[in-house]
Amino acid sequence: MPIREPINIVPIATSRSLRIPILTGGVDARAPVDTRGRRLRDLRISVTDRCNFRCTYCMPKEVFDANYDFLPHAELLTFEEIVRVAKISHELGVEKIRLTGGEPLLRRGIERLIEMLATSLPGVDLTLTTNGSALKAKAQSLKDAGLKRVTVSLDSLDDATFRAMNDVDFPVAKVLDAIDAAAAAGLGPIKINMVVKRGVNDHQIVDMARHFKGSGHIVRFIEFMDVGATNGWRMDDVIASAEVVRRIGVEFPLVVADANYQGEVAERWRYVGGGGEIGVISSVTQAFCATCTRARLSTDGQIFTCLFAEKGFDIKSLLRNGDKKGADSMIRDALAAIWQHRADGYSEIRTARSHDEAKARKVEMSFIGG
Ligand code: GTP
Ligand code: 5AD
Ligand code: SF4
Ligand code: SF4
Repeated sequence: MPIREPINIVPIATSRSLRIPILTGGVDARAPVDTRGRRLRDLRISVTDRCNFRCTYCMPKEVFDANYDFLPHAELLTFEEIVRVAKISHELGVEKIRLTGGEPLLRRGIERLIEMLATSLPGVDLTLTTNGSALKAKAQSLKDAGLKRVTVSLDSLDDATFRAMNDVDFPVAKVLDAIDAAAAAGLGPIKINMVVKRGVNDHQIVDMARHFKGSGHIVRFIEFMDVGATNGWRMDDVIASAEVVRRIGVEFPLVVADANYQGEVAERWRYVGGGGEIGVISSVTQAFCATCTRARLSTDGQIFTCLFAEKGFDIKSLLRNGDKKGADSMIRDALAAIWQHRADGYSEIRTARSHDEAKARKVEMSFIGG
């Protein structure tokens, strides 16, 4: 079960004490830094905790079954509330917004939310991570609404493996069609996320690289992570990124490339002689917490300052606290305060300690967003 009890912040007291920068002299309170000097640059917004897939590493069927207690509609932030948080976060430094879930394309009227975000925040990099199942039908309307680009999760090209991993027998051909449709609609360059699990889909690493080499799309190989408390994570199931690069490099020589920006999650590798690039995301073997600038807004309106957090901060009650004058600045100050108190670095802790010891009751990825 996801953990949903919020930590109640005391907005007035907190905001007052945090109007003045307290951690780094000279830094504007509107661009807060956390206790480790990290800025707030990305906001990942989960728009639904539901998904039509049951990927074994994310929403295993045994837990997310017919009796599973998904959020009732009234608990979800409305589009207006989401946009309000996004605008306030932008004032605090957010430059990139990613819509996630669950499966974000299942949220009814998602195009309207995208249009509202794109209109209110024209300079923001607005993107979305999807499993691709509904993308073919929606690609053009998402683009028209103002979505800039899209990331598609795809764990295998082999149909049997793909069907087994999504565990709802969804065929891979439909996702491949959706990727083509998204590219045709101008949602590229498309990133393709492959979570690699030893003995499950690692035989697909080189096939995936080969298939997308030269396509203009970028495959990112993600180390299987111990998110949530239900995916049965074991270190033995993780294939280190170094191994991924080695296996692909045997067939297609690779050379490491510079990051596009400081704090980029994926490490980039270019094909020698052309054909584009791949990325590796090494949250387990090479933690990137030191440059982590991401906050997460859960489906029910809590702010999480780490993917592996156990609890979030209840922003929804502030949002629903009436239309009091000055309410936006109160919310902004609350967000700044949350950020300024942030000390997260779960992946580093997990790396430093034994993996077993680091196991805790953490919130599920489908609830917080990936
Ligand atoms: P772009 O730079 O816009 O392409 O985004 P990104 O590189 O952040 O990619 P994306 O949002 O698709 O993230 C890819 C995957 O990296 C996620 O699905 C997670 O598995 C992992 N990831 C992203 N952010 C974090 C993070 O803050 N911590 C950890 N541990 N993993 C993360
Ligand atoms: N480890 C790594 N990545 C994961 N994702 C979901 N669960 C995990 C996990 N346990 C990825 C999905 C998707 C994104 C939302 O997060 O593949 O691309
Ligand atoms: Fe759904 Fe994505 Fe989780 Fe798979 S990884 S169950 S597609 S939210
Ligand atoms: Fe950021 Fe937490 Fe991921 Fe580290 S583990 S990179 S602090 S979200």
